Amino acid sequence: MTELVIHNARVVTCDPSRPGLGVIDHGAVALSGGAIRWVGDDAERPRGDRELDAGGRLVTPGLVDCHTHAIFAGERAGEFGMRAAGKSYLEIARAGGGIAASLGPTRAATDAALIAALTGRLDAALAGGTTTIEVKSGYDLTVEGELRLLRCVAAAAATRAQRVVPTLLAHLVPPERAADREAFVAELCDQLIPRVAHDRLATSVDAYCDEGAFSLAESRAIFTAARAAGLAVRGHAGQFRDLGAAELIGELSGLSADHVEQISDAGIAALARAGTVAVMLPGACVQLRLPVPPVDRLRRAGIAMAIASDLNPGSSYCETLPIQMWLATTHFGMTVDEAWLGVTRHAARALGLAGAGAIVGGARGDLIVWSCDHPAYIPYRYGSATRLIDAIFVAGERVAPAPSERPS
Ligand code: NIG
Ligand code: FE
Repeated sequence: MTELVIHNARVVTCDPSRPGLGVIDHGAVALSGGAIRWVGDDAERPRGDRELDAGGRLVTPGLVDCHTHAIFAGERAGEFGMRAAGKSYLEIARAGGGIAASLGPTRAATDAALIAALTGRLDAALAGGTTTIEVKSGYDLTVEGELRLLRCVAAAAATRAQRVVPTLLAHLVPPERAADREAFVAELCDQLIPRVAHDRLATSVDAYCDEGAFSLAESRAIFTAARAAGLAVRGHAGQFRDLGAAELIGELSGLSADHVEQISDAGIAALARAGTVAVMLPGACVQLRLPVPPVDRLRRAGIAMAIASDLNPGSSYCETLPIQMWLATTHFGMTVDEAWLGVTRHAARALGLAGAGAIVGGARGDLIVWSCDHPAYIPYRYGSATRLIDAIFVAGERVAPAPSERPS
C-alpha cells in the first residue's frame, strides 16, 4: 500500500516525456519510501494509507536552486548603497570591495558561525520552495580554508532534509596572492582539487572566468585538474566580459555555463554541442545593471536554460526562486514554461542530477502543493512565494506547513 496519495491536483510534472510542462489537469501523485511511486490521472490513482486533497490546486516538483554562494560571512550592504548611487560592481571591486571584502570576515568566522549562517539561509530557501540547493565555496581562497568551508557545508547539510549539492569554486586570486598567481593556481590544481575529490567534499568545480577573476588559460588549468580528479566542470562565464569561457566549458562537456550575459555565437554553439545548461542569474544581472543574456539565441540553439538565485553577499542577496522566475519572465523574455523548467528539470540537469526536478516514478519525493492553480501565478505573485505554499514534501516527508493565502 502507498503511504501517501495527493489527489485532486493540477500536477505540473516537468516530465521530459510529456509536452511542455507535462501538466495533468486532474492528476494525482503517490509516494512511498521517500520516493514518487506513481503519477497519473486522478481517476486511476492507487489507494494510499493517507490521502491529501489538493483542492484542484497546483502540485509541482520541489524547486532546484543550481547556483548559490550560500556560505559566507561579511555582508556588504554598503556596496549595495554605493551601486545605487551610481558606482559599478567592478569599480567597487577594484577599490577593495567585492568578493575580496568577504574573505576576511569569512576566514575569521568560526565553523559554528558559518554553519549557523548557512543553515539559516537553507531554511529561508526551503520556505520559498527550494528542496535542492547547490552551495559553492569560494570566500576563503586558501587550500585549508576552502576545505573547511566545504566541511561546514556538509555539516549544515547533515542537519537539514533538503538535498545540498556542494561545489568547489575558484572564485578569484586573493589579494595577498596577486604577486604569485601562477603558484596560487598551481595550488588549486595540485593540492586543493585532488583533496576535495579524495574527501568527496564536492561533486563539481566551478571557476569564475571573467575580467578581474581567472583568465581563460587559468580556467582551463583548473577545469583540467577537476576532470583529472573525476569532478564535473561548471563555470561563471561572461558576466562582465566574454573571455571564451563558454567555448571552454562546452569543449570540456561541462554541466553548466552560468551568467552568460556576454557570449559569442561560437560559445553558444559549443554549449549546444555539449548539451551544457545555460544558467540565468537575473537577480545579479538586474542588480548590477548588466545587459540581458541572449535568451532568444540560446533558445534557438536548443540550449536548456536554468534559473538560479546566485545567493551571495555582493550581487544577489536573495534565497528564493519565485522572484528570479519573475525577473526571468519580465526582464529576460523567458516564457512561464521556461521559467518553471529553469527552476526544476533544467536546474537539476545543471547539477548532474538525472531524473530530479520532475514528478516521475522513481524520483525523490520532493513536491510542493501551492495554494493556486495556474503555473503563471508563482512569478505573477513574486513577492509572496512563501504565503502561496500550502505544503512542502522533501523525500516524501512533509517539512514546512507554511500558512498559505488562498487566492480568491
Ligand atoms: O555570481 N560572479 C562572481 N560571483 C558572484 C558575486 C560574488 C560577490 O560579489 O561576492 C556572482 O555574481
Ligand atoms: Fe555566482
